[in-house]
Amino acid sequence: MNTIIVNTDIAKGTINKNIYGHFAEHLGRCIYEGIWVGEDSPIPNTQGIRNDVLEALKQLQVPVLRWPGGCFADEYHWKDGIGPRATRKRMVNTHWGGVVENNHFGTHEFMLLCELLGCEPYICGNVGSGTVQEMSEWVEYMTFDGESPMADWRKENGREKPWKLKYFGVGNENWGCGGNMRPEYYADLYRRYQTYVRNYGGNKIYKIAGGANVDDYNWTEVLMKNAGGLMDGLSLHYYTIPGDFWLGKGSALDFSEEEWFVTMKKALHIDELITRHSTIMDKYDPDKRVGLIIDEWGTWLDVEPGTNPGFLYQQNTIRDALVAGLHFNIFHRHADRVQMANIAQTVNVLQAMILTEGEKMILTPTYHVFHMFKVHQDAQLLAVEASAGHYDFQGETLPQVTVSASKNAEGKVHISLVNIDPKQEAQLSIELRGIPADKTQVAGTILTAESMNAHNTFKQPDAVTAVPFTAAVEGNRLSMKLPAMSVVTLAVG
Ligand code: AHR
Repeated sequence: MNTIIVNTDIAKGTINKNIYGHFAEHLGRCIYEGIWVGEDSPIPNTQGIRNDVLEALKQLQVPVLRWPGGCFADEYHWKDGIGPRATRKRMVNTHWGGVVENNHFGTHEFMLLCELLGCEPYICGNVGSGTVQEMSEWVEYMTFDGESPMADWRKENGREKPWKLKYFGVGNENWGCGGNMRPEYYADLYRRYQTYVRNYGGNKIYKIAGGANVDDYNWTEVLMKNAGGLMDGLSLHYYTIPGDFWLGKGSALDFSEEEWFVTMKKALHIDELITRHSTIMDKYDPDKRVGLIIDEWGTWLDVEPGTNPGFLYQQNTIRDALVAGLHFNIFHRHADRVQMANIAQTVNVLQAMILTEGEKMILTPTYHVFHMFKVHQDAQLLAVEASAGHYDFQGETLPQVTVSASKNAEGKVHISLVNIDPKQEAQLSIELRGIPADKTQVAGTILTAESMNAHNTFKQPDAVTAVPFTAAVEGNRLSMKLPAMSVVTLAVG
């Protein structure tokens, strides 16, 4: 039996909607094909951006979108991606498959995408192979309202008014593909580069420093100590990889219960990582001014057989959906420090929301979790006490059910639950405190499946999809059976 108490009258801070952010890189078929098809494409599009993907993403209320990388960011030179498309420079995407990058999707196209989605742009600048001047001019090009070389150039390229740009990353994975730097060296570079990321007019930029990989706590320590006062956010990257990064990450579709268990265990590890990185940040920033920005997370599995290894195209099952649900429940709990998270990546790459094949498009199980959880965006995190059962496998134990709850501006309470056990349902009793017993009404949605590798295909696009779910109500107590491997969101009140 899992017993949960939701204190509907004890708020613990706001769940920043940016936790539901996305990341789209010039990698494989994410930008090209997945988002950008060009104005002349037979695939219906809005100024080159495919309509089906646009509409699906709108339903998620994407709050913020990170671009252009990833590793691509530290090789990207923004001036190659503006002006008439036919004359834009063609380059090699050395990180991702060695394919030709024609730069047809550049700053104007990205800003258009954000405008169409109604989301904030989050641009990652080039520290690894770019200059301070290049980064500074990019910000001037996008945000300066007046007469200046960059603003004039923007106007010549068809955009009179500056864009609003809130989030700017000063490099990506600077410990690795972004320059193989030591934290001391990057901290100094960060101080220098960020100086020239200017606030023009009313545009105020939230500056994000390149943060640690997984459990590199020394990186966080050095960055906070030497540059903490000059940043608004510090990033963290953590991928859930059931196997070994180099020797074999594990198949997206063909896996055992052992791999399932390891996947859940590794996904839950994000909790410890956030706690430990936050503890270091607390030392230098006790008021929690600097946000922890988990701008790359999700499952990283072997590519689908027969696909380009540099394209990172993987299928997506109910297992991935549960990983997403676990992350959100953990991000919520750390709402005081985690101010943004960006799933890697939006379309056709890693733990994608959407997969495309020519003009066809399907939604993945992960998409449905994002849809179910969007009710928590900018809601008040509620105090929850849980005494959960266990999911045991070969002598190891994990909590069977994780939970988080929030209350939105209209006073509606949402409770999200994840049962990671692939075989056992969970009997749940939820006590709602602080809510009048005679006012309790409940409705909900569930995502579940019959097999661990259930997924959607272009032939069966709705094999795994969200359906209505409800719980028995008695006074202010809810009881329900949470099926094996399921994600549920309940709306109460
Ligand atoms: O998301 C794929 C890659 O993973 C990104 O380009 C990089 O930042 C990370 O290593």
